[in-house]
Amino acid sequence: MADIILTGARPTGPLHLGHYVGALANWVRLQETHTQFVMIADVQALTDNYEFPGRIREHVTTVALDYLAVGIDPTKTTIFIQSAIPEIAELTLFYLNLVTVARLQRNPTVKTEIAQKEFGASIPAGFLMYPVSQAADITIFKARYVPVGEDQLPMIEQTNEIVRAFNRIYKTDVLREAEAIVPPIARLPGTDGKAKMGKSLGNCIYLSDPTDVVQKKVMSMYTDANHLKVSDPGKVEGNPVFAYLDAFDPDKTEVARLKEHYAHGGLGDVVLKKRLLEVLETFLTPIRTRRKEFEQDIPAIMHTVKEGSDHARSIATHTMQQVRGVMCLDYFK
Ligand code: TRP
Repeated sequence: MADIILTGARPTGPLHLGHYVGALANWVRLQETHTQFVMIADVQALTDNYEFPGRIREHVTTVALDYLAVGIDPTKTTIFIQSAIPEIAELTLFYLNLVTVARLQRNPTVKTEIAQKEFGASIPAGFLMYPVSQAADITIFKARYVPVGEDQLPMIEQTNEIVRAFNRIYKTDVLREAEAIVPPIARLPGTDGKAKMGKSLGNCIYLSDPTDVVQKKVMSMYTDANHLKVSDPGKVEGNPVFAYLDAFDPDKTEVARLKEHYAHGGLGDVVLKKRLLEVLETFLTPIRTRRKEFEQDIPAIMHTVKEGSDHARSIATHTMQQVRGVMCLDYFK
């Protein structure tokens, strides 16, 4: 069987450079060698946005356009919408029997999110169990690899626990375990120097930002609070400008030279930021060109996603026939 890749993201807003470094770069690369499925995880997005379905609907288009602009090629990658595959919801329900509430509460990603969202004693059940739904996303396609950011590693771990439990209990091998593919630079700091780029933190550079916006954001980036005079030695470690150069500048020798110069003193923030701006513009220009083309015809994008969803569903349906079989639910065969 071909090695299938399944990945995806929640459509909660436009994609930024952190998404690119953490996942999208791998998706663009891996579509050349693998059978890849990219899910727009609208059902998962609703677990913490159930009051705002219109917003999620809107961002399904935003995200689909971002994928196409960044170079996800629908002739190589199947782009589809999670809610268009109701079999995933069915499989989730079966998996829920194999998972304890305590195990879900220990899932580090869920634990962090629950703390951030300040649910207190009122954790919505749907939110708590979204890792189980994600296990269904992955396994219904019998995915071998899941290219994601490092924050998703606990999801893969939990998925594989479910796979082992299912195969053992129902004495089968229909489900397969998956492996995460994490990029060399797993996380990009925000423009403010915070550890992570995040929409709610307001420290993002978006793939859809025009030149003047990128310029403003780069020129006001955090660097090193103690680097006051050009002649002062500056800190490279923890300086987001260097983190971005590491991620996006193809000329590694030049980056090494700039780091040395900066650490030694004599390299000003403005010169450094202008270099980063050039690098980012080179990266973003082809993305903008493709975006301009695709955004002319939004219905065509939705058509592509519909075709992708039909294809994805045919695979999911096949897996569910097997699942129903081993679970003694194939009454009318
Ligand atoms: N949890 C992922 C996110 O927050 C989205 C996601 C849903 C996903 N299902 C998936 C990622 C399956 C990889 C595989 O972005």
